[in-house]
Amino acid sequence: MSELDTGAMWAASSGLAGGTSTEVERSQQEVLQLSAITLSVNGRARRFEMDPRTSLLDALREHLRLSGTKKGCDHGQCGACTVLINGRRINSCLTLAVMHEDDEIVTIEGLGAPGALHPLQAAFVECDGFQCGYCTPGQICSAVGMLAEVKAGWPSHATADVASPHPALSEAEIRERMSGNICRCAAYPNIIAAIRDVAAGGPG
Ligand code: FES
Ligand code: FES
Repeated sequence: MSELDTGAMWAASSGLAGGTSTEVERSQQEVLQLSAITLSVNGRARRFEMDPRTSLLDALREHLRLSGTKKGCDHGQCGACTVLINGRRINSCLTLAVMHEDDEIVTIEGLGAPGALHPLQAAFVECDGFQCGYCTPGQICSAVGMLAEVKAGWPSHATADVASPHPALSEAEIRERMSGNICRCAAYPNIIAAIRDVAAGGPG
């Protein structure tokens, strides 16, 4: 549905049918009560106004133009929207931006850049860990969070000894811990190889 269609429907339902698009927009603004919000994204404070019901994913993509974070399902099922908040991975489609004013948000753009790639970004290139690349930013952000969880000794459903402070990062462990990130191109073997490379200390 186009923005015009949406606006016309809103105007009709609010008794403004027949108003100009400017009138409709002005009325929408009055009804929506936009919130001023400041987010810390990739080390930079970003201030803007938005509908307080905006998801973090939409705030990143539509307001801050950080389109590296992808929208797949918008329902918490694919992991394409994974970002890091205070170092922990989260599905940005399932949380509201206004909830994160005091948090440090890192997106794929903040992990590395051409010429200065994050080790996981370099490993995905080295191991051919993607095909279309749509899931890749989420996979990489998730892998960063996942390796931090392993380092902190967090067990997973696949951990044989949950009392061990250092769970071994077997292929089964990686598959389980990355199971929230779907790859429609099924690049899983290469994604796992990239993560294992970094966990073992290379490349990058
Ligand atoms: Fe967030 Fe799919 S877009 S989990
Ligand atoms: Fe295409 Fe994963 S590389 S969806």
